[in-house]
Amino acid sequence: MLCVPGVWQPSACASRNSALCVWATGEMIMLTIYLCVGSSCYVRGSEQVAQILQNAIAAHDLQGQVDIVGTFCLESCSMGVTLRIGEQVFDGICPEEAQAFFEREVLPRVDGTGGSQ
Ligand code: FES
Repeated sequence: MLCVPGVWQPSACASRNSALCVWATGEMIMLTIYLCVGSSCYVRGSEQVAQILQNAIAAHDLQGQVDIVGTFCLESCSMGVTLRIGEQVFDGICPEEAQAFFEREVLPRVDGTGGSQ
């Protein structure tokens, strides 16, 4: 199964090179969110987190500027859904706080005001 832009396919992402698992492609990407699709994170809600982040990207008209890429285990399995932006790892991201995470950590990086690095 190939990754299809705009379609969340964690089973495909888990079985392929994460570089192929680009969520939304085409435009120059300024920020990539690496979202763990390992089994523990999947069980803890990575699919829902991805959907919430995708919705937030669309709501802020950031397609082409923020990308979500599925990646393998980030070694924080017991902490909840784990993400990485650059070299910074964020663990314990549950679906209920994915929107707040986006506003706290993604938007400032895109609008140039920073983010907690
Ligand atoms: S499965 Fe996600 S950090 Fe290990």
